[in-house]
Amino acid sequence: MCGIVGYLGSRDAFPILIKGLKRLEYRGYDSAGVALISQTNHLNVYKVKGKVSGLEQVTEREDTSGTIGIAHTRWATHGEPSQVNAHPHVSASGQLALIHNGIIENYNVLKEKLEKKGYTFKSSTDTEVLVQLIDYIKESGKLDLLTAVRLALREVIGAYALAILDHNDPDQIIVARKSSPLVIGIGENEFFIASDATPIVEFTDKVVYLEDEDIAILRRGEPLKVVDFSNVELNLEVQTIELNLGQLEKGGYPHFMLKEIVEQPDCIQDCMRGRLHVEDNNVILSAIIDHKEKLIHAKRFIIIACGTSWHAGLIGRQLIENYCRIPVQVEYASEFRYSNPVVGEGDVVIAISQSGETADTLAAVELARNRGAFIYGICNAVGSSIPRSTDTGSYIHVGPEIGVASTKAFTGQVTVLAMLALTLATVKGSISESELKEILEEFQAIPEKMKKALETNDQIASLSKIFTYARNFIYLGRGYNYPVALEGALKLKEISYIHAEGYPAAEMKHGPIALIDTEMPVVVIATQNSLYEKLLSNVQEIKARKGRVIAIVSEGDDTISKIADYCIELPKTVEPLDPLLTTIPLQLMAYHIAVCKGKDVDQPRNLAKSVTVE
Ligand code: M6R
Repeated sequence: MCGIVGYLGSRDAFPILIKGLKRLEYRGYDSAGVALISQTNHLNVYKVKGKVSGLEQVTEREDTSGTIGIAHTRWATHGEPSQVNAHPHVSASGQLALIHNGIIENYNVLKEKLEKKGYTFKSSTDTEVLVQLIDYIKESGKLDLLTAVRLALREVIGAYALAILDHNDPDQIIVARKSSPLVIGIGENEFFIASDATPIVEFTDKVVYLEDEDIAILRRGEPLKVVDFSNVELNLEVQTIELNLGQLEKGGYPHFMLKEIVEQPDCIQDCMRGRLHVEDNNVILSAIIDHKEKLIHAKRFIIIACGTSWHAGLIGRQLIENYCRIPVQVEYASEFRYSNPVVGEGDVVIAISQSGETADTLAAVELARNRGAFIYGICNAVGSSIPRSTDTGSYIHVGPEIGVASTKAFTGQVTVLAMLALTLATVKGSISESELKEILEEFQAIPEKMKKALETNDQIASLSKIFTYARNFIYLGRGYNYPVALEGALKLKEISYIHAEGYPAAEMKHGPIALIDTEMPVVVIATQNSLYEKLLSNVQEIKARKGRVIAIVSEGDDTISKIADYCIELPKTVEPLDPLLTTIPLQLMAYHIAVCKGKDVDQPRNLAKSVTVE
């Protein structure tokens, strides 16, 4: 949450910062700001409520010169979205400008202390407290900025990624991190700072990911230096990023979400590459092979995740229990971390996260690791915090996901979970050769079948017009498609703001059936599988109460398709892989309804892509 960008070098900083903010806008977009030290040595700070485009407008006639600057796009935690609460915040001395991502938990205590020293505050943010604290320590002790930052951070409880510059020293930016990501790009005599690598990739592929409690000193003409709170210099690990620019652009699509839905067949192919070997009747996730003894002998697996990743986890449970016969429980990371869970040696925790930065998931991982569990991460963002804090894991390799509503990451997570279950079942001997052969052949065919599923796009676009003004939706599924129903409802809620609920279809008669009337659209996932007859009964129950059924069925369906009001046909596949296809029309429907309603599909209100605060 919140995007941080910074630049120090010989180019004009402003265009680099604005472009960087636009790349990071998916992280938060309720206000934006920039601080630059100009050619004439002024500290210029510009801030707006709203999006980065608004910041561009207000600075059109302003002095945006300078080769050093920091910029921020905000997702409000302390204080409403407003110009005064936007970052950068400037210190009382008028010399320091600071941007910050995270939460300073003890900001109230620090604020009271500073107020007693005569400091006053313009904003309601914790960030302003931080900059005044650094200012106070610097001014009262007559210290240099680095020392003041080091001492201030010792007093701070909470999470932060921060960048600070000093008007008196136009050749230096200091950055620091704790529990909130920060990457430094290293160019030729220039540095780039960002919350993730996306703003950096077009300038350099050499990056350093800061670790917790690292403080980095970026000084013009000098190599990057990183120290700890005691000022001990640390070794740097310079990494090469493998992102390409095309992955960060819309590529002709009106929205990132649509692009990301459409590219799923290729993403799944990338995810399976080098792992699925149909010709040898084998699937290999190397992390499973490397740790097979630990995994085979696990007492149980605990999957922890949030949001869409949690839905993928529910499918993961069925896959692992079905093929490996190991008990699995699936927990919301936010509940797990505060429930004093019974977890320890012999447990394998699987943490699923697209961003790899979700605060609750990261905290749950730390708790489980401290209690002796073995941690396996399933993430998309390479080099992010969760993969770096796990014992082992697998990337989903679906490329950067920019739309706030997660789409390709979900199918990537399900793909990895299926490969995990099958690899483990193979080494455990809990799957027969013939069963493995059948599912691997189907697996290989999934990208082509996804393409067929995407051909429903025009039909769904028309259907979406009919339901644009619905006030509620119900989504029903069973077995492997129950989590898909939850995911379909979440997608619709997130981007169209229509209230939607997902249920296991049989639960309907235990309450939700009371909601069914002529106004209630019910999406029923009723593809050909072992539970088809049960779903047929559910559809009949809805029709008997005049509900409007949109059925997701298999090609050639001649039963439910006759009763449902609308039918979307998908290619057939084996039951455990069905979610990889059934998810697609639900993603498309959420997308088209949101477009019909004129909503901001990629940046829905109140949301941010990466939830780095709890
Ligand atoms: O990055 P993560 O997978 O850890 O994120 C978890 C959720 O915040 C995320 O899936 C969220 O629910 C999405 N906006 C869903 O579309």
